[in-house]
Amino acid sequence: MTTFWSWYVTILSLGTIFALTWLIFGTRKGQREETTEETVGHAFDGIEEFDNPLPKWWFMLFVGTIIFALGYLALYPGLGNWKGLLPGFEYLDSDSKTPFATNIEIAGGVERNAGWTGVHQWEKEMAKADAQYGPIFAKYAAMPIEQVAQDEQALKMGGRLFASNCSVCHGSDAKGAYGFPNLTDNDWLYGGEPETIKTTIMGGRQAAMPAWKDSIGEEGIRNVAGYIRTLSGLKNPEGIEVDLAAGQNIFATNCAVCHGAEGKGQQAMGAPNLTDKIWLYGSSFAQVQQTLRYGRNGKMPAQEDFLGNDKVHLLAAYVYSLSQAKLEK
Ligand code: HEC
Ligand code: HEC
Repeated sequence: MTTFWSWYVTILSLGTIFALTWLIFGTRKGQREETTEETVGHAFDGIEEFDNPLPKWWFMLFVGTIIFALGYLALYPGLGNWKGLLPGFEYLDSDSKTPFATNIEIAGGVERNAGWTGVHQWEKEMAKADAQYGPIFAKYAAMPIEQVAQDEQALKMGGRLFASNCSVCHGSDAKGAYGFPNLTDNDWLYGGEPETIKTTIMGGRQAAMPAWKDSIGEEGIRNVAGYIRTLSGLKNPEGIEVDLAAGQNIFATNCAVCHGAEGKGQQAMGAPNLTDKIWLYGSSFAQVQQTLRYGRNGKMPAQEDFLGNDKVHLLAAYVYSLSQAKLEK
């Protein structure tokens, strides 16, 4: 925190506590001890107020909150340079003497009491978890992914990693959603080989399906949309004029480079198979046209810097196992 904000917080907190203390003790002075039938004189809608002091328990409640606030300020950092009475450890790299934030290789690090903060608490827990689980992750990372995918404990750990890092997009059952691929169906945009899955997770993927509205126009979009829908056996809606031959022509000139001459897709560029009845962005005539008009740019975020090789290795095994389970059935 900058000096200005540090003072701002200090003055505001202590000032408020002081003002409130003064208020509750100040208004108590000179008040009668015994209860009375006298009223203070104001009335609201027929309701009048007796001129009695605050009940004692209520008064003590106010005093209690003030004591709590002072205790809190004493225990935790916040006021100026005050580090608080609670211990909080900052891990220092023994070589560079710089605190490490997300780097949690604790080996050889030293601890220094630096006051409790959320960051220090988190670092401590991460360092502890890493010391505890790091060797297990490392053990699996040294095994081939197929083999890890057979290991029950590994899959459990992978499942937990998936739940906290991947399920927001791919769903807790990994079955995906609109725009987010199903990872259990053995249909792959980029390939389902164990190492390919790992490459996908490590480096992320950026799909590039161009927009066609300017180059082939509405009529072209209608025809080619109609044509590719027939590739997976879909019937085009009645009453819409679709020239399938023209659509096929457009496909051969514009789309086959990426989706393949037969529309079976090309994993090297993440161009999906258009013949398999699996649609990432919907199969209705309107949805397919929308895909063609504006293009699609699905993005799978890279995990290498965030999770690191060992955890990604485990995740790759987990994802691989999901698709294998489907095959065995
Ligand atoms: C922010 C959303 C998001 C998160 C988080 C996310 N993904 Fe993805 N993932 C995507 C999208 C979108 C795609 C499809 C990219 C495309 O359209 O080409 C994808 C694609 C993939 C693929 C390729 C599927 C295929 O068919 O080839 C795999 C494997 C994958 N994700 C695994 C994971 C794992 C494991 C995690 C957790 C570490 C994860 N994803 C986290 C959005 C996400
Ligand atoms: C430069 C390569 C490239 C070209 C050219 C290309 N596509 Fe694509 N297409 C892609 C990629 C990559 C995706 C996946 C987009 C994503 O995952 O976000 C895609 C996705 C699609 C989808 C969505 C499929 C689904 O599952 O929802 C359709 C439909 C499609 N393309 C049709 C076409 C048609 C028709 C043409 C020709 C007019 C065409 N594409 C040309 C690369 C290409």
